[in-house]
Amino acid sequence: MDANGLEGVVVAATALSDVDGERGRLVIRGHDVEQLALQHDFEAVCALLWNGALPDAAEHAALRGALAAARVRAFARLPTLGDALGAGDAMDALRAALAHLRADDIAPALLKLEITAALAVFAAAWSRLRDGAPPLAPDPALGHAADLLRMAGVGAADAARARALDAYLVTASDHGMNASTFTARVVASTHADAVSAVVAAIGALKGPLHGGAPGPVLAMLDAIGSPERAREWIAGQLAAGQRIMGMGHRVYRVRDPRAAVLERAIEQLQAAGARSHRLALARAVEAVAVSSLHERRPERRLAANVEFYTAVILDAVGLPQALFSATFAVARVAGWLAHIDEQLAHGRLIRPASRYVGPMPEVVEVA
Ligand code: COA
Repeated sequence: MDANGLEGVVVAATALSDVDGERGRLVIRGHDVEQLALQHDFEAVCALLWNGALPDAAEHAALRGALAAARVRAFARLPTLGDALGAGDAMDALRAALAHLRADDIAPALLKLEITAALAVFAAAWSRLRDGAPPLAPDPALGHAADLLRMAGVGAADAARARALDAYLVTASDHGMNASTFTARVVASTHADAVSAVVAAIGALKGPLHGGAPGPVLAMLDAIGSPERAREWIAGQLAAGQRIMGMGHRVYRVRDPRAAVLERAIEQLQAAGARSHRLALARAVEAVAVSSLHERRPERRLAANVEFYTAVILDAVGLPQALFSATFAVARVAGWLAHIDEQLAHGRLIRPASRYVGPMPEVVEVA
């Protein structure tokens, strides 16, 4: 419970995901995140979240093809996005670009595909334009993760890197009633359309306390440079009143289970021949950060969260730091869209109460 008595308020019943903060367990629609991330791709988890079950081979192929076709349509929209993709920040660009979609113009059966595809295509196009290069058209033969790498211009999309990015997209696809998911559900609860709900969710995800952390984590690793400098650097940050990015969580009181999933995926990528010189440094910095935070606040259990290893895995697959938060949105949109559906199917208008702590009008005695 926080000082205002506001923490932990239940705002919805959900069948989509469950976060057990004491034991460090994330269940997505009946499956542990570890099992999903290491055995299934993003399309499979979209089917799980949107339809309630992992797809069989035919359903998987159909969804993969439909999402690829939607990426092609999203790419055709690029000339209609005005100056949205010229924004200096990828999340600003994503929010402005997605706002150009009009839900009324899209067949309801296609809406989730169009929005999911659009985020990947727009994020990749933003990155290319930022580098002064033309956007690259999608390749409908590829899966979503491999095509994101290709469209972002990250060299040839080899299978190992696509697999690692899939593991990330699956891991980040849904996570209980986090700030951006709640935002999407609030907007959906008013019966506004899914485009509006996702645009609002992107706004919530942008902040450094939510989806904006992995970029600063990478910057921190670069600033530290080598393990022996970690303790002094972290002590300096804490003394200056700064937070250590990628550490701590509102719900988890143990290490975020998604950190271990991503660590494992990075190891698999390395075993396939890719080099991630930051993994060893990240592990050393994590250990120092945990012990430094514990020395400062022994009663508050602060451990690595998903963003810590997000920085390492997205860097290892070759995505630029400026695209990290947008890649989080590319993943989390699967969960947002499932929550929007669930809210519409089972929810009522979300209208929380507040506790008024301001002054009351003076009572004026009328003679
Ligand atoms: N570095 C340093 N101190 C931290 C910390 C961090 N990463 N996370 C929490 N703390 C400290 C706070 O300073 C606070 O101490 P105080 O009471 O002396 O001010 C205490 O722990 C409790 O913090 P609080 O802000 O109440 O926790 P929260 O549940 O609101 O915060 C986060 C959760 C995630 C916002 C927070 O841990 C954080 O800012 N982490 C860094 C950003 C990040 O990685 N975000 C991605 C989350 S997935």
